Amino acid sequence: MGRMEGKVAIVTGGASGIGAATVRRLAEEGAAVVIADLQDDKGEALAAELSGAGLRAAHRHCDVTALPELEAAVAFAVSEFGGLDVMHNNAAWSGGGYVADIDVEVWRRSLAVMLDGVFYGCKAAIPALLERGGGAIVNTSSVEGFFAEMLSAPYSAAKAGVLNLTRSVAIEYGRKGIRANAICPGAVDTPLLDLVVAAGENSREDIAEQHAIGRVIEPREVANLVLFLASDEASAITGASVVVDGGLTAGTRLTGFPTFGGGTYR
Ligand SMILES: NC(=O)c1ccc[n+]([C@@H]2O[C@H](COP(=O)([O-])OP(=O)(O)OC[C@H]3O[C@@H](n4cnc5c(N)ncnc54)[C@H](O)[C@@H]3O)[C@@H](O)[C@H]2O)c1
Repeated sequence: MGRMEGKVAIVTGGASGIGAATVRRLAEEGAAVVIADLQDDKGEALAAELSGAGLRAAHRHCDVTALPELEAAVAFAVSEFGGLDVMHNNAAWSGGGYVADIDVEVWRRSLAVMLDGVFYGCKAAIPALLERGGGAIVNTSSVEGFFAEMLSAPYSAAKAGVLNLTRSVAIEYGRKGIRANAICPGAVDTPLLDLVVAAGENSREDIAEQHAIGRVIEPREVANLVLFLASDEASAITGASVVVDGGLTAGTRLTGFPTFGGGTYR
C-alpha cells in the first residue's frame, strides 16, 4: 500500500520544477493527482507519462489568478477522481527590481499569482476537503517568507503573506480535520532557479555555497516534504512553516574564519 493510497490531490504549478516532482511523488505513493498549470504541453506530457506507468494523473489548464479556474480544478478532481484530500498551492510568477522602480502591474501580477492564487486555492479546496471529513493543504512559501531578498519585494511580500494565510487556515479549520502547512525551500534546481541565475550576479556555485549542505536542493527533496505533510503521518502538524533549505537559514557565515580548526569549510 502506498502512503497516499485512496487520496486525491491537486498541485498548482504542477507542470514544472517542484510541482512536477511533487505530482510524481504523490502519484508514486498511490494518489490520483490533478496537475493544475498554465503550461498545457508539459502538464499533459507528465500526466501521460504517469498514466502510462499505471499511475493516476490528469492535467487541467488552470490560471491561479482566477478563482473560477481553481473552483473548476476542484470540481474536476471531484468528478474525475471522486473527491479532494490534498491541495498543494505551489504556482509562482514574480517580477522584481528596486521598490521604487517596480511597475504597479508587475507588483499586482506577482501578488495575484503567489498570494491571491494561494487564497483562491484554499477557498476553492476547503469545501471539498470538508466533504471528505478533512484533508491537507500545503502552500509553497520560501525562505524569503522569513527575510527579504534584494530586488525581490513582490516575491518576499507574497511569500511572507503565504505563511500567515496558512496559519489562518490552520487555526480556523483544525477542529474540522483540515491541516494547513507552508513549506519554505532554499534554492531548488528548477527552471525558476535558472531564471534567477540568468538575471542575477551570483553564479549557481555562489548560490550553492550559501547552503550548509554546499549544494542546491533537488525538486524531489522538496516533494518528499510535501508528501509527508500531505500524508496522515503528519496528523499533528498544522500551521507550521517548515524549511527544506539545506541549512540556508541555520546561520550566517558573516565572519568567515575559514582556517579555524586548521582547515577550510569550502
Ligand atoms: N526554485 C527555487 O529555488 C524555489 C525556492 C523557494 C520557493 N520556491 C517556490 O516553489 C514553487 C515552485 O517553483 P519552481 O521552482 O518549481 O518553479 P517553476 O517555474 O519550475 O514552476 C512554476 C510553475 O508555476 C506555473 N504557473 C505560473 N503562473 C501560473 C498561474 N498563474 N497559474 C497556474 N500555474 C502557474 C508555471 O507554469 C510553472 O509550471 C513556487 O511557489 C516558488 O516560489 C522555489
